[in-house]
Amino acid sequence: MKTVTYNGLTFKPFITSDQIAKRVGEIAAEITEAFRGRNPLIVCVLNGAFPFASDLFMNLDCDAQIAFVRLQSYAGTESSGEVRQVVGLTESVKGRPVVVVEDIIDTGRTMAKFLADLRAEEPAEIKVATLLFKPDALIEKLTPDYVGFTIPSKFIIGYGLDLDGQARNLKDIYVLNQES
Ligand code: IMP
Ligand code: MG
Repeated sequence: MKTVTYNGLTFKPFITSDQIAKRVGEIAAEITEAFRGRNPLIVCVLNGAFPFASDLFMNLDCDAQIAFVRLQSYAGTESSGEVRQVVGLTESVKGRPVVVVEDIIDTGRTMAKFLADLRAEEPAEIKVATLLFKPDALIEKLTPDYVGFTIPSKFIIGYGLDLDGQARNLKDIYVLNQES
């Protein structure tokens, strides 16, 4: 695999599509065991989580449904700090188990804001699945229940993660080459 360039920034290979697929399968198996017979609602946080949520959902071996919300806090490679909920949840979650699916938890602001809104809807249970987790960047007090990969606080693209809307369709995950 070679480096890729977006907006004049160079990124190097970090996590391969094979590693992603293996880990997603493992998490899907865990969620299947935990929620079998309870018809969980899988809530995909758009835009970045759509490939992860799709692969995770298709690997669940139990009854489950999927729904989508859209949140945004990033501009360029920095978290803007302000979380805007663009599209809300239309499905009723009251009394249901919910698994929130994120691409990455960085400062945790996006997830903390969404979890507060979600709790107000009184689901039976909330679990959080994130493909990537940057614990060193975490500001909010939260612990994801399912983590694909714990990574250092570096900027990542690919498999849904973007740089200003670009690079979401890379099959592998790349990290910003800070020497470039
Ligand atoms: P947080 O609110 O700071 O936790 O940021 C979460 C959101 O910011 C994620 O859902 C991503 O959309 C975006 N984000 C955080 N880190 C990265 C990154 O390294 N690359 C691309 N997007 C990121
Ligand atoms: Mg996201």
